[in-house]
Amino acid sequence: MHMISATAVAKLIIAGEHAVVYRRPALAVPLPDITARVQITAASPHQGCRLHSPDLHTTSQLGNDDDPLLHLIADVLHQWQVAIPDIDIRVTSDIPIASGMGSGAAVATALVRALSAWFERPLTHDTLGDLVFRSEQRLHGNPSGIDNTVIAYDRPIYFCRQAPAADGTAQSPLIQPLTMAAPLTLVVGDTGQRSPTHAAVSGVRQRREQATAQYDACFDAIAATTLAVHQALANGDVALVGTLCRANHTLLQQIGVSSPALDTLVAAAMAAGAYGAKLSGAGVGGVMFAVVSPAQAPAVCQAIQSAGAVRAFVTTVNPHHP
Ligand code: MEV
Repeated sequence: MHMISATAVAKLIIAGEHAVVYRRPALAVPLPDITARVQITAASPHQGCRLHSPDLHTTSQLGNDDDPLLHLIADVLHQWQVAIPDIDIRVTSDIPIASGMGSGAAVATALVRALSAWFERPLTHDTLGDLVFRSEQRLHGNPSGIDNTVIAYDRPIYFCRQAPAADGTAQSPLIQPLTMAAPLTLVVGDTGQRSPTHAAVSGVRQRREQATAQYDACFDAIAATTLAVHQALANGDVALVGTLCRANHTLLQQIGVSSPALDTLVAAAMAAGAYGAKLSGAGVGGVMFAVVSPAQAPAVCQAIQSAGAVRAFVTTVNPHHP
C-alpha cells in the first residue's frame, strides 16, 4: 500500500517571546526528541480526504467539516492546483497541546511535509514556513512567525519581524542561524496548565492598549536581554545565559503572562542551583525551562517535579553544524 510519513519537531523559545510580536528579536531552538507525525495512505476511490486524529478521538472530512488542519490541506491543494485526493491522513503528536512547545505549528509542518512528499512537490524551508504561517494566522490572529520558522528550519534561530516598506508592502522577517559556542543543557518543566497562544497574545495586546508606553518599555528591555543572550550563547557563557533568562522571566511577569505555577517552578529551579529559569512560549500556563550545567540537571529536574510539574525532562541544545 502506498504510504508516506513525515515528522516535525517541537520548539522552545529561549528569549524574546511576546516582544517578538512587536518586532523585537527572539531566539528559538528545536526540541528534536519531541515530535508530531503525519501518515498518508491511499484510500478507496471517491472516499475523498479524511483526517484522523486518534489522540483527540476525531475523524473529519475535507469539504464537510470545519477544522484548522482541513483548512490548511485545502490551502495547500489550492496552491498546487490539485483536486481533492482519495487519502487517509493520520495525525499523532507527543507535543502537549497549548503548552508553549509549538504543537500546532509542528502538526501543521508535518502535515505539509507529508502532502509535499505525497504529491512530489519539493518545498523550500520558506515555502513550508509560509504555508504553516498562514495556518497559524487563521488560528492566532497575529502570530510573529517564529514558531513555524524554527520548526521548518529545525535549527536554532535568531528571528525578528521587519517593519513594512514605505509603500506598506510586508517585509520578510530577519532569520539567522544562532551561533552557539557550547551546548546548552536545559531542564523543561510543564505546569500541565493548557494555555492557548491566541488568548495570551490578545491579553498582552489589550493590556498594551491601556499602557502603551509601559509595555513598549518592557518590550525594549526584553529586546536588550535577548540580544545579550544572543551574545552570551556566541561566547559559550552558559551561566550568563541563565542569569539573563531569569531577567527575561521578570519582564514577562511584568507584561502579565506568568502564573503562580510557572513562578513556583522557576523558583524551585533557582533554589536547586540552576543558572537561571524562565517561562517559555505564550505563558499563562504551559512550560518553563531552567538553564543548568550537565551536573546540576538531575537535581533541578527533581526539584521541578517536586514543585508540581506534571512532567520534567532534560534536553541539550547543540550548536548546529551545516
Ligand atoms: C508563542 O510561541 C510565541 C509568542 O511570542 C507568540 C508569537 O510569537 O506568535 C507568544
